[in-house]
Amino acid sequence: MQDNAAQNNSARTIHLADYQPFTHCVDQVDLTFRLHPTATRVLAKLALSPNPARPGHQDLRLNGIDLRLISARLNGAVLDLIADETGLTVPATLLPEGPFTLETEVEIAPAQNTALEGLYMSNGLYCTQCEAEGFRKITFYPDRPDVMAPFRVRIESDLPVLLSNGNPTGGEWVDPWPKPAYLFALVAGDLIATSADFTTASGRAVKLNIWVRPGDETRTDYAMDALIRSMRWDETAYGREYDLDVFNIVAVDDFNMGAMENKGLNIFNAKYVLASPETATDDDYARIEAIIAHEYFHNWTGNRITCRDWFQLCLKEGLTVFRDQQFSGDMRSHAVKRIEDVLTLRARQFREDGGPLAHAVRPDSFVEINNFYTATVYEKGAEVIGMLKRLVGDDGYKQALDLYFDRHDGQAATIEDWLAVFADATGRDLAQFKRWYEQAGTPRVTVKEDWDGAGTFRLTLSQVNPPTPGQPVKDAKVIPVAVGLLNPNGGEVLETTVLELTNSEQVFEFNGLAARPVPSILRGFSAPVVLEHAVDPTTRAFLLAHDTDPFNKWESGRALAKEILARMVTEGAAPGADWLEAMTQVAGDDSLDPAFRALVLRLPGEDDMAQTLFAAGHVPDPAAIHAARKRLGLALAERLAPALPGLLAGTVVDGPYSPDAKAAGKRALRLALLSLQTRLDAGAAASALFAQADNMTDEGGALACLLEQGIGAEELARFEAKWHGDRLVMDKWFSLQVLHAAPEALAGVVNRLTARPDFDMKNPNRFRSVMGMLAANHAGFHHADGAGYRLLADWLIKLDPLNPQTAARMSTGFESWSRYDADRQGMIRGELARMAAAPGLSRNLGEMVGRMLG
Ligand code: ARG
Ligand code: ZN
Repeated sequence: MQDNAAQNNSARTIHLADYQPFTHCVDQVDLTFRLHPTATRVLAKLALSPNPARPGHQDLRLNGIDLRLISARLNGAVLDLIADETGLTVPATLLPEGPFTLETEVEIAPAQNTALEGLYMSNGLYCTQCEAEGFRKITFYPDRPDVMAPFRVRIESDLPVLLSNGNPTGGEWVDPWPKPAYLFALVAGDLIATSADFTTASGRAVKLNIWVRPGDETRTDYAMDALIRSMRWDETAYGREYDLDVFNIVAVDDFNMGAMENKGLNIFNAKYVLASPETATDDDYARIEAIIAHEYFHNWTGNRITCRDWFQLCLKEGLTVFRDQQFSGDMRSHAVKRIEDVLTLRARQFREDGGPLAHAVRPDSFVEINNFYTATVYEKGAEVIGMLKRLVGDDGYKQALDLYFDRHDGQAATIEDWLAVFADATGRDLAQFKRWYEQAGTPRVTVKEDWDGAGTFRLTLSQVNPPTPGQPVKDAKVIPVAVGLLNPNGGEVLETTVLELTNSEQVFEFNGLAARPVPSILRGFSAPVVLEHAVDPTTRAFLLAHDTDPFNKWESGRALAKEILARMVTEGAAPGADWLEAMTQVAGDDSLDPAFRALVLRLPGEDDMAQTLFAAGHVPDPAAIHAARKRLGLALAERLAPALPGLLAGTVVDGPYSPDAKAAGKRALRLALLSLQTRLDAGAAASALFAQADNMTDEGGALACLLEQGIGAEELARFEAKWHGDRLVMDKWFSLQVLHAAPEALAGVVNRLTARPDFDMKNPNRFRSVMGMLAANHAGFHHADGAGYRLLADWLIKLDPLNPQTAARMSTGFESWSRYDADRQGMIRGELARMAAAPGLSRNLGEMVGRMLG
């Protein structure tokens, strides 16, 4: 056994350049589990042979952490081996020349595993999380993704439901598809299944089961529906079928991430499975649909084709996010989905890219791989694929993907392999494109317009690639910039055309125009860049009214709002008339999708404004941003006041609740309007909606409107009385209070909440509900007294010995420190230094804090 201090001391940096294939091949894995909360026995029988890719007679080195070795046998003969802190070595001198069998028996204690990595217990349920390197906490094994083997699993336990990967066959779980250990899973406990039958396009009958704790089976219908739609979609959109007789999903209460794509046995954070109208919001439904799809899609992009090493993580994650985004767009609205994805990208990935944690989509070194399950690897990884598709076209993309599945099925692949299928299928040279995978940072693209008065319009595009940690100088990237041109009457004179910016500066010319056009640049957000294009407010309003590209239509309104907010903060300007007028138009325009109108009416967030102001050369003042945003909201509410009651009445959804996009869009618009109305009527309308709500979208949304205005104490108490027995709904109760606490009250709110017996820091969802929202409450977290910083650091130090993964992840609350003034910088760096000095600091949190301190 080893403690965290020992792990930290052995922390070392792993480099992509050092990759070597493993010394041996694993030809078959047989596992037997004798489950016990504090003394589970794991018997592993590995059929091994020397790997021809590593000539010479090599030692066999197996990973293993926190394992008590009971016995080891080589070809049946007892071996006298002693494990060290990170594994077990069988010296070459003991190994035969050819194939051999190694059997080990180890003891582990799942009930004491609070890190939720490896085999652990959650409310009496045994479950596993092995990605990235959790399998080494279960048995001695070459725990790396390029070692793929067929697994057979036997589970000995009195518990009623015993699950593992593959097909159930004669009391065992047999997975015929060779897989890396990170895709191993085991679940055992008292569970109830919701089941369905699915027949694949080629006629394979598949049994689908969603396993939940007794009592939760009334909340699985939507997840099942989403699963069936995902399976069908992957057949039609990518020609990919499911490849086993059963597909199991299990919901667990304690989970570090969203979900995990273990072969044939996906394990989910219960939050992303369970839904009923009363307990889940429309956003919850949409996320469940997306994550069910994401994990299912991994069966081909991740499992059948996996990653050679963890540096290639974006190979499966970027592609699978891209696929789940396509799916959600097909299921709902592409326009709305794109806007939401860009909002997330900017809030999380641009933020990451602009600070000390910036890293390439494919990093080339890490200390702890769990720290690289980031917005850059996932969301920017998906954007990079979107650009690739734009550059090679839909047909080129399809041919490349077919070739990818053909060529690499059953393999552990690399980004080089991925780019090679595109080059081979389309003939395009992707050497410059590869920089998107290798160079961190968000490019800034500047646009200059020139009209010669005689029919020729020129766009000069230039790019700057800012330095990031370890990458001071960058080369120009290939940036697809989708543009369209509108004539002064709002008609489109040039349909969307993709310009390829490959140099640091290029001029693009458009001839034969009757009048100076209004350009619409970066349509569909065709590249993950910051666009710098000076556009006057009237033209922004014109584009908001007339642009045929829905993303840019929204973007014009957003840019207008940000520019006004920026001037309110930096110059004390008044809320701009152009924007107020434009918002009034949109609010009342029934020809627009309500979901789209809701997005337009949503004010830019405070962290987003801080990011924008910083990029423009200002030092953001969190209190001033908060105050300006409040004034802007009030100004909009007052401007819309006469129309609000009518608009609200127009968003009433008739009939019983349905989570479909159309109904959800109406509710989103209603809540956007209600947030404005609540600024005027002291909460009357929101209280009324809260009281009559028959679904969580309305109930939680109305409560949020009240809390945002510093009212709603009574509703908060009623919410608690109604939902105190429901863990997932109570997470919302915790979150909302923290997120909407007034800046000066935030620390007090957090202290009151964390003192409650139902604040269980070991449950990641509950911890995130409070600590994640503490960092998300921008003005409160950055309050000048530094109380927010101290609180977050205190709790990370407390959580780290129990759950280093979640502690490390939550530390990103501090990643934006360099934006702020010297006092705040000093306070944050002080807290980072305090964490760095914490005794026994984990490798996970240690790496994060070290990178943030620089
Ligand atoms: N592969 C999973 C997904 O994207 C995420 C698992 C990450 N787990 C972790 N401990 N880092 O669906
Ligand atoms: Zn994934």
